[in-house]
Amino acid sequence: MKFGEEELPITTPALLLDIGKLDANLARMYAQVDRLGVPLRPHMKTAKSIDVARRALNGRPAQITVSTLSEARYFAEHGITDILYAVGVTPDKLAEARALRNVGVDLSIILDSVEMAEAVAAGGAVPTLLEIDSDGHRAGFAPDDPALVEAARALASVGPGAFRGVMTHAGGSYDCRSEEALRAAAARERLALVEAAERIQASSVPCAVRSAGSTPTALFADSAEGLTELRAGVFMFQDLVMAGLGVCAIDDIAVSVQTSVIGHQAAKEWIIVDAGWMAMSRDRGTASQPIDQGYGLVCDAAGQTISDLIMVAANQEHGILAMRPGSMATLPQLPLGTKLRILPNHACATAAQHAAYRAIGADGAELQWQRMTGW
Ligand SMILES: Cc1ncc(COP(=O)(O)O)c(C=O)c1O
Repeated sequence: MKFGEEELPITTPALLLDIGKLDANLARMYAQVDRLGVPLRPHMKTAKSIDVARRALNGRPAQITVSTLSEARYFAEHGITDILYAVGVTPDKLAEARALRNVGVDLSIILDSVEMAEAVAAGGAVPTLLEIDSDGHRAGFAPDDPALVEAARALASVGPGAFRGVMTHAGGSYDCRSEEALRAAAARERLALVEAAERIQASSVPCAVRSAGSTPTALFADSAEGLTELRAGVFMFQDLVMAGLGVCAIDDIAVSVQTSVIGHQAAKEWIIVDAGWMAMSRDRGTASQPIDQGYGLVCDAAGQTISDLIMVAANQEHGILAMRPGSMATLPQLPLGTKLRILPNHACATAAQHAAYRAIGADGAELQWQRMTGW
């Protein structure tokens, strides 16, 4: 085979997606939202792929959440037009938001200041949700902040539909340490949102949408009373952080990075592979959890975890595998060229390092699935 004539099959590192596990994760979430009686607006920030979105929306309302305007454009170009752009908007992004609306995309935006509400209102209606801080994790109005009602009024003054409702993301749920804490986080998220919506409605501004969610709170909510939709994204792939929280089992994780053994340092008890932080990301999300998985947990080529073998260090294109500190297990003999899979700490961050998915079906057949990038 000559360069330039045919594509050479580069096998590692590569982003693998197990379609069977993806489908099982989707089925679990849909069973939960159906039980709660609330629709899901899946967050595509993890997958960023129309192939995954089609699988996720199969027979369900074609409504999604995105984290960038280029994601919104990408999914709109692929026919999904009910889109919530769920990162606080800035004045310079309004032209792009309006341009998407002008070509028929039902794009809604979020913000959390009176200043930004007035800036949106000044240019005419773009359906807007106000972000509520339900747990002190990140952005948003406190539910009892008088500025919340002021912002809702500023938007509503533009005309019907300009103010669409409220949304929140319980990012604090990623720090929960028990099932009880996860359930409590879900209840806190819901109640904060309902309180915010009621305060706005008490000022005679209708608050139609009440959108809440994160993977932990969506999966562990006991009730969706007062909510109109749930959002979650990482649940489709799951990851080691979610497994560390008890949100999923390690065996549920649908994405992994395929890598090859490229060397050994016997004296140091290291195995070197061709997946470093460029393939895994630098995310160390499990470092603060009871079980630190380093840069990822190692599996054999078929996806079976290898007891206590983790990526302990990552250079750009080199990963260093070793036994977890304190492990009684012995380093496995893995000859040069051995194929392995590494499970990621954070699926969003690891997937973002790759241009496409190698999606593997139940029969082992491999499909190339798209992935988009950029802002
Ligand atoms: C606004 C918003 N909604 C929903 C989600 C989905 O949460 P998860 O990644 O836990 O599924 C995120 C994730 O960051 C988010 O920022």
